Amino acid sequence: MAGQGTSSSSSSTGYDLVVVANRLPVDFAVDDDGNVDWKRSPGGLVTALEPVMREADGAWVGWSGAPDLAHEPFEADGMLLVPVTLSADEIERYYEGFSNDTLWPLYHDVIAPPTYHRQWWDAYRRVNQRFAEAAAAQAARGAVVWVHDYQLQLVPRMLRELRPDLRIGFFDHIPFPPVELFQQLPWRKNIVEGLLGADLIGFQRGGDASNFVRAVRRLTDHPTRGSVVSMGSDDPNPGRRVRAAAFPISIDTQHFDELARKPEIQARAKEIRADLGDPEVVMLGVDRLDYTKGIRHRIKAYGELLQDGRIEAASTTLIQVASPSRENVGAYQELREHVEVLVGRVNGEYGELGHSAIHYLHHSYPPDEMAALYLAADVMLVTSLRDGMNLVAKEYIAARSDLGGVLVLSEFTGAADQLAPGPILVNPHDIDGMKNKIVEAAQMGAKEKRRRMRNLRRKVMGDDVAKWSESFLGVLKAVPARDSYV
Ligand code: G6P
Repeated sequence: MAGQGTSSSSSSTGYDLVVVANRLPVDFAVDDDGNVDWKRSPGGLVTALEPVMREADGAWVGWSGAPDLAHEPFEADGMLLVPVTLSADEIERYYEGFSNDTLWPLYHDVIAPPTYHRQWWDAYRRVNQRFAEAAAAQAARGAVVWVHDYQLQLVPRMLRELRPDLRIGFFDHIPFPPVELFQQLPWRKNIVEGLLGADLIGFQRGGDASNFVRAVRRLTDHPTRGSVVSMGSDDPNPGRRVRAAAFPISIDTQHFDELARKPEIQARAKEIRADLGDPEVVMLGVDRLDYTKGIRHRIKAYGELLQDGRIEAASTTLIQVASPSRENVGAYQELREHVEVLVGRVNGEYGELGHSAIHYLHHSYPPDEMAALYLAADVMLVTSLRDGMNLVAKEYIAARSDLGGVLVLSEFTGAADQLAPGPILVNPHDIDGMKNKIVEAAQMGAKEKRRRMRNLRRKVMGDDVAKWSESFLGVLKAVPARDSYV
């Protein structure tokens, strides 16, 4: 996709559907002459929203991922992409700071201690205002605007102030914490009021939606009835009602299913196993290198199983893909050190020439290679300490039309709420318990594997990400259009 885009004819009247997310669904590169070139990045969200965006005349507002990059809105793949510029200082305070060193750990059960900095909060507010203004500038009268994730929780309210004619939805991709933790946040009320600017607030699990409603009750005076909050007379749409509900996200299931059925991908899966020395059991972990994912707990359990002699490095291999993430944030740097020391120790102790106990890969891979890895893995280990949903678990299931493979899944994922009883559920804090479950998975007979996988596929295959977006947008579009317009 070339960088020299133009705005479409819709720009005079605006767009009927505007998506607002921290990141644009593109990767960009600057060539030697300073020209910007954009390439589509194949994220789950863009796959889900692309067909709806095309049909609805859609615009996507987001950050390019680079500092100080200013670029005019441009057409790509049937939608308008609207870059929001962030300075290096804003990346540090809004993105690395408030989003990923305050909100992220707070919303994930304070697994790492959240940092509260007033300057980070100021930057968060300022950047949210910029996103709200960019969205307001693109939306047609009465348009639907769908705001995504914890980086942009103030946008719904800011946008409603600017454009009370809009129907505004918000989806929280990560957990919403219990109010007992959420109330640590010095700006807790601002965040709740920010979200209440939306007409519909979607969460991954019913538990997240009820945590939010409890926070509304505890921190504001807005009356609530079940999961519906009534706004007062000072709202830009006085008496407006806000609904909070669960809309568990999924993946493009058909795409993964089709990928994994391709002969070349199946051949690649065999090649991966052969490269590993054709072990009896291949286990796999695939995560962003994030402390919420329980990677250390998993490797600790694995190392102890080797030590106890319950598994043998000669016949069992663990592949751990850990894709680089948020590398300027201290907690992520520490995690990388810990994980790499741990992997080194296990490999030093139990590896042999030509035989690593753990194959640790600090890279990210395209979907083709991921599908081959899923096919190559007898046991998939998802051991998050807290996870909004966990899409890797769903990708693994979608790739296994051969009904092989066992999913070991943490109880602390949104996926566990949806998929139980098919996976082997684990509590990653209980290392002994997890060790037993890993051995159970490794030794499971083919018949039981098939039974479980068939069950899991029944749940996952009919429930893809297109359905997710349709159901959210269906509810949002049912909000009556408003006459007021500023
Ligand atoms: C999680 C968040 C997303 C985020 C992604 C990658 O899935 O819910 O909003 O985009 O992690 O993190 P990054 O900080 O690289 O955008």
